[in-house]
Amino acid sequence: MARDLAIDLGTANTLVWARGKGVVFNEPTVVARDERSGGVLEIGTAASNMIGRTPGHIVAERPLRGGAITDFDTTSQMIRGLLRRVGVGRLRRTRVLISVPSAITPVERRAVEQAAEQGGASQAYLIEQPMAAAIGAGLPIEQPVGNLVVDIGGGTSEVAVISLGGVVTHRAVRVGGFDLDAALQQYVRREHAVAIGERTAEQLKMAIGSAYPQAEEPKAEIRGRELATGLPKLLTISSEEVREALDDAIEQVVQAVVETLGACPPELAQDILEEGIRVVGGGALLPGLDARIAQETNVPVRILDTPLETVVMGAGRAMEELERNRHLFKID
Ligand SMILES: Nc1ncnc2c1ncn2[C@@H]1O[C@H](COP(=O)(O)OP(=O)(O)OP(=O)(O)O)[C@@H](O)[C@H]1O
Ligand SMILES: [Mg+2]
Repeated sequence: MARDLAIDLGTANTLVWARGKGVVFNEPTVVARDERSGGVLEIGTAASNMIGRTPGHIVAERPLRGGAITDFDTTSQMIRGLLRRVGVGRLRRTRVLISVPSAITPVERRAVEQAAEQGGASQAYLIEQPMAAAIGAGLPIEQPVGNLVVDIGGGTSEVAVISLGGVVTHRAVRVGGFDLDAALQQYVRREHAVAIGERTAEQLKMAIGSAYPQAEEPKAEIRGRELATGLPKLLTISSEEVREALDDAIEQVVQAVVETLGACPPELAQDILEEGIRVVGGGALLPGLDARIAQETNVPVRILDTPLETVVMGAGRAMEELERNRHLFKID
């Protein structure tokens, strides 16, 4: 029997699902390379720990930006390294289904398929991310019913209405978790004249960030570097400040949802009003995001239990019924 794998190659995180096992890999999408030999040193968490700490000849980078593949070679290396890590070899046939951003070009599509095949996959299939997200969210995508899914990832937020196994309307904005972190860095620099790192910003967002006022609004202490003196500085930041810093980026995501609803045929809009909006992706974990979207759309919102795994679980479920689901995949 062939081995089946599903891969969610995200801007921030890569997950792999194996049939009969569930999620077998869940690490940052980072590749570390030795520039002198061109060889890959590490992928995933080990490579991520090298970011910002490498000597000149080693490069640790994220091959995807804004949800798109910006660097083919590194993306191929990531896929090949990934397949090696989960034990794909030439001995056993392996079918791989990879979820890709819906904005991917035909050339990029071929590149992803080729990378999977070079990495040892006997067959590679692609599925659009919003489709995988909707399947993972348990929505009845084959029914003549409107299903609205919002996927807030690291580099992009995608909003899609799906009915009868196809995407009816779709919006993508290049705003994701990384942009929230960047907005927070800018805010602290502007308001407190202190520079903080990307990781510090992300930790601050996860610790006290929100998209809507919360019952408890704690403060947090962060470390940065004072711009005037260049010396380390300890700073106290409030929940309100973090919310204010994130607001513009969050509003762009909310507006994409509003626009998608506006572009939706009336019958489907009616279904969505009854069924609600499903939010997946790491951004869904930001407290108050559901309340914020619900307030601005007047539609109930549901955050899924494990939003970081929804896409790969959906791709896995599609894989389990590969033959029946062929029409959902982009197969040339
Ligand atoms: N508790 C949390 N609160 C806020 N944001 C969070 C939380 N946990 C994770 N995130 C954010 O979620 C983002 C990663 O989400 P996810 O893994 O869904 O992205 P991705 O699938 O790799 O990216 P994309 O779909 O854009 O290609 C990161 O920016 C991270 O900071
Ligand atoms: Mg994603």
